Amino acid sequence: MGHWKIWDFDSWAERYDEAVARGSQVHARYGEVLERVVEVARVGPGKWVLDIGTGTGNLAALCLARDARVVGLDPSARMLAAARREFGPDPRVELRRVDDPFLNIPYPEGRFDAVVSTYAFHHVPPPLKPRGVREMVRVLKPGGVWALGDLAFWDEEAEREALRTYAWLEEEYFARIVELQPTFAELGMELEAEQLTPVTWVLWAVKPPKRQRGPL
Ligand SMILES: C[S@@+](CC[C@H](N)C(=O)[O-])C[C@H]1O[C@@H](n2cnc3c(N)ncnc32)[C@H](O)[C@@H]1O
Repeated sequence: MGHWKIWDFDSWAERYDEAVARGSQVHARYGEVLERVVEVARVGPGKWVLDIGTGTGNLAALCLARDARVVGLDPSARMLAAARREFGPDPRVELRRVDDPFLNIPYPEGRFDAVVSTYAFHHVPPPLKPRGVREMVRVLKPGGVWALGDLAFWDEEAEREALRTYAWLEEEYFARIVELQPTFAELGMELEAEQLTPVTWVLWAVKPPKRQRGPL
């Protein structure tokens, strides 16, 4: 299946939070993006949240602040080490290193109230994104919420235009909203999208609740 770019997050781990705090166009409105994701995901007391590509744990920390329980998955051991230093021994959070955490989630079906992710899905190659969506939805409870904050574009033309316009924007595997929609439609879900910066969107969708069995 082709040759895909691999990023070295281990070597970025120690500098990631500093880089985000310094600000850049890529991370413009970073805090608001994370806040909006936990809001649309309805993260609240006692909810079980899966955070994929948790990195140094900034999104997971917002979930904990809302009294949720969080599992954070990431392929980078050093990113996770930074997150562990941040959280200390907190029984409400579990951090696990997993090679392809969007594609192989080591949990059974229907385990989480919310599956969230920020600034990580653009590392999944486009042909694998539908599989990633199906895998994330698999581990959601019926009625649970999937929510993503990331660099993304409405369609291929919008992405091309942004790459032409912004010299600071490097080509990565950005999600294109119109290309994600069919996978959500297949799953009986309606994809909602809100743009926060010229290159950043928050996307979310609710897994259909379980059908009640009963007389017709
Ligand atoms: C830019 S950081 C974002 C971290 C955090 N979610 C945040 O918003 O600050 C990207 C994270 O995604 C992880 N990552 C890289 N490739 C990934 C992949 N294919 N699947 C899941 N996570 C990946 C990296 O190790 C890194 O921790």
